[in-house]
Amino acid sequence: MKKTVLVSGGAGFIGSHVTVELLEAGYEVVVADNMSNCDMTCFEGVKKITGRADLPFEKVDFCDAVATEALFDKYKIDAVIHFAAFKAVGESVDKPVMYYKNNLGSFLNVLEAAQTHGGCNVLFSSSATVYGQPEKLPVTEESPRQPATSPYGATKQMCEDILQDTVKASGGAIKGILLRYFNPIGAHPSALIGELPRGVPNNLVPFITQTAIGKRECLSIFGDDYPTPDGTCLRDYIDIVDLAKAHVFAVTRMIEGKMKKDCEVFNVGTGRPVSVMELVTAFEKVNGLKLNYKIAPRRPGDVTAVWADPTLANKELGWKATRSVEETLKAAWAWEKHLAGK
Ligand code: UD1
Repeated sequence: MKKTVLVSGGAGFIGSHVTVELLEAGYEVVVADNMSNCDMTCFEGVKKITGRADLPFEKVDFCDAVATEALFDKYKIDAVIHFAAFKAVGESVDKPVMYYKNNLGSFLNVLEAAQTHGGCNVLFSSSATVYGQPEKLPVTEESPRQPATSPYGATKQMCEDILQDTVKASGGAIKGILLRYFNPIGAHPSALIGELPRGVPNNLVPFITQTAIGKRECLSIFGDDYPTPDGTCLRDYIDIVDLAKAHVFAVTRMIEGKMKKDCEVFNVGTGRPVSVMELVTAFEKVNGLKLNYKIAPRRPGDVTAVWADPTLANKELGWKATRSVEETLKAAWAWEKHLAGK
């Protein structure tokens, strides 16, 4: 019998890539999404890539407790991967109530449904944002979390704590894994799924690709006076397919009962710091084009540098990031061109 994984927020950027990898690894997947921040483009792309025209899709808002329970009644769910959340840092500062209500409410409903259905394996999509500006680099899972600098970041920390407490109280019925993502970028090599930001992108790579295609006039590089080798910020950019594969390893570890603790935490990154300027230059070189960019003031809230020590995930999950920044930036560009019909 195939094991079934419920992917909340499964029609979005990370969720769609994870769905592809789960299906390719032999899992059955139920994709559920309220479509608040995406359309069906990626879900249709997933069906094409995997040849699964019959892939189950449920339009569910996980803030609706009754609908969430009904989903757990309808399917026998062996694991749930919870992506369904708002993710724009700036917006969360303007609309904290909306962020807390949505990001906490949906996760609490998932956990409640897991409880009423006798337990479940729960994977939560967390973020390197929980580390703030770390005192020591690279960051390990033991590095202290810093106070959150935005309501978005606070919801990630709170959901981490909620899962830890729920697992502890469940007497083994609920198992949890927290994956802390660094900076996911790129797109599936098929160019059939990728990032689909609504409005002006907040994140660097969609802004780069939209500038290159002519949708945006000019990329602003936020600050070139940071204490880094070239003055621009350092991040750990992780290929979206590599990131998606980490979820398959984590789900399998939970389902096969290989966990060392009932709630485990893993960094999902490459261990390779790349500056904003290096990324821009690599994008130009690998795709053979010139990008219109300018140096702009620092963006409030940005940390100077953060990158992962991925040793624990490499060792325990048996997972490792394999793609070069160049390959990833090629895929991101192919996706942008696919969207433009080129
Ligand atoms: C941010 C969030 C992180 C969240 C992630 C989601 C913080 C501090 N960071 O990461 O929690 O999980 O988005 O994807 O809350 N940049 C430019 N020009 C641009 C856009 C970005 O120069 O137009 C620079 C930024 O200053 C930064 C780097 O590119 O140095 C990466 O920015 P971004 O892609 O927004 O990711 P983070 O801020 O690292």
